[in-house]
Amino acid sequence: MPSSPAHPSAIRWAAAAGAILALAGCSATAPVAQTQSPVATPAQPSVTLAQPSVTLAQPSTTSSRTPTATATSKPSPTKTSTAPPTDRRTAAQRNRPFTVKGIPVVSKKHPINASYRRSSVTSPYGLTQETQLALTRMIVAARAKGVRLLVRSGYRSYSLQAQILSSKIREYGSETLARRYNAAPGRSEHQTGLAVDLWDGVTWGVGVRATKAGKWLWANAWRYGFILRYPNGKEKITGYAFEPWHYRYIGTKAAKAFGANSNLTLEEYLGIA
Ligand code: DAL
Ligand code: ZN
Repeated sequence: MPSSPAHPSAIRWAAAAGAILALAGCSATAPVAQTQSPVATPAQPSVTLAQPSVTLAQPSTTSSRTPTATATSKPSPTKTSTAPPTDRRTAAQRNRPFTVKGIPVVSKKHPINASYRRSSVTSPYGLTQETQLALTRMIVAARAKGVRLLVRSGYRSYSLQAQILSSKIREYGSETLARRYNAAPGRSEHQTGLAVDLWDGVTWGVGVRATKAGKWLWANAWRYGFILRYPNGKEKITGYAFEPWHYRYIGTKAAKAFGANSNLTLEEYLGIA
């Protein structure tokens, strides 16, 4: 985590800049097929925004929901088990995420149900407090380096995720392709408030990787506790195609293990690939 807090005016700028995009309706992901041009140029709205509220108080941790341990009368084993952690939640217990080493995992293999509730909520993107705080710091740090980062999508509810997937299936004319980029409800990290889609406000789709914003994020997001969640060439592990815009907050300690320009997946890091 950076040692010096960001200047308040810069933080207000960062939040307001992102809010413009949120109000512009750029909420859903709009990935593109590899054969299509990934460049999109949405117009910037010229509106004056109310000041979005960004909580800067130290947030409480979001990783307290660990899986319930199985009761047993057997003594603890003396040898360290090398078996990968197993998701033992029943369907009803999926109102909390599968959690490994204190890190919640939501994916095609480890879904949450519609009853899941985030531990804390902030505006304007609906992220958890800790995620929003880290995001604000990251946006301010990027700006200091001349890199513009805008939020395209933050929290998405179970029902919104369902709508997005349906609309993308219609738009692409291919359910298989749509599901490579869009999670089914319960399978999206956006429902946790721990994930955010970022771009420069100009280039969307796989082209994000070649933008100043995309390059800066890949090199520096780990410093603020974020990781590139769906790296290139790791679809078999993550379940999703390369998304150079989708960043997941896991905290600075864990993100340090990923470092700059990493293609490590969360699944590999947690030993659940
Ligand atoms: N685009 C990611 C996979 C999601 O829909 O959550
Ligand atoms: Zn995303």
